[in-house]
Amino acid sequence: MYIHSSFRNETNSRAEQGLPVLLDKLYGERGWDFRGYKKMTLLRRVSKRLHATGCSSLSEYLRLLENDPSEYSRLFSSITIKVSEFFREPEVFAAIAEILRGEFCGTPVRAWCCASACGEEAYSVAMLFSECLGMDALGKAKVFATDIDADALEQARRATYRIDSMLNVAPDMKDRYFIPKDGLYKVKYGIRNLVKFGTLDIVQSTPLSGMQLVLCRNLFIYFGKPLQEKVFQKLDYALKPGGLLALGKAEVLPQPYMHGYVPVGKGLNLFRKKG
Ligand SMILES: C[S@@+](CC[C@H](N)C(=O)[O-])C[C@H]1O[C@@H](n2cnc3c(N)ncnc32)[C@H](O)[C@@H]1O
Repeated sequence: MYIHSSFRNETNSRAEQGLPVLLDKLYGERGWDFRGYKKMTLLRRVSKRLHATGCSSLSEYLRLLENDPSEYSRLFSSITIKVSEFFREPEVFAAIAEILRGEFCGTPVRAWCCASACGEEAYSVAMLFSECLGMDALGKAKVFATDIDADALEQARRATYRIDSMLNVAPDMKDRYFIPKDGLYKVKYGIRNLVKFGTLDIVQSTPLSGMQLVLCRNLFIYFGKPLQEKVFQKLDYALKPGGLLALGKAEVLPQPYMHGYVPVGKGLNLFRKKG
């Protein structure tokens, strides 16, 4: 299980062979089930930790985990990548806004952001609700935002962001929905109040239900195909007929579910569940 520089260019078969040992350990000791995640992505993330800790082999890294359990959370953080931004892929939000205005404006919409990272996506949806829903519907609308990472959710609840995550926020919306504070921007209470955060590992947990809108973006890119199908089944369960489902730009609807969904727009990876 020696790690060479070739580990990083994904060709080290010994590292690949050693990976299941590490994944079993993470599952056994911490209950984190990354066993269905894409091997190459995992190898890259683990490799980063090896370099950061100065370990030259996976065996050495396994020993380090034994001796310094605080390394578990650093590895967890490295595997669960939190990159996000407000209104990521703005054209998807524009399409959702149009549908909210046209069809759902009087509906107390329930939305679920699965894998919500530090909250940027969930607050973006809440801002859309505020822009598009009538007063009555808005009063009853809710965005449920879940992630496997409790620290990311803690950050999300603080709702304070750097300007570089807000490049897609229109200036008038920035004024309406954020309060500048010490060089950062805090989401206003009215929007924060629409979002409920909770820890949920979508691989191992029961999904939410009764949603008109489900966003699960930039999570499937880390999953192997069988896990994508298993998790998609949960998203499908959560979504009401006629509801909308958003996947990330680089993600695809698993084959067995294609017949149950109709694409909305072109190249958006936004789908409507057949009624
Ligand atoms: C790249 S972020 C996506 C954030 C946001 N959805 C977006 O598209 O901008 C991926 C998120 O998936 C979360 N994640 C990874 N595995 C997960 C799991 N099994 N259950 C729930 N969330 C998970 C990570 O913690 C991270 O916050």
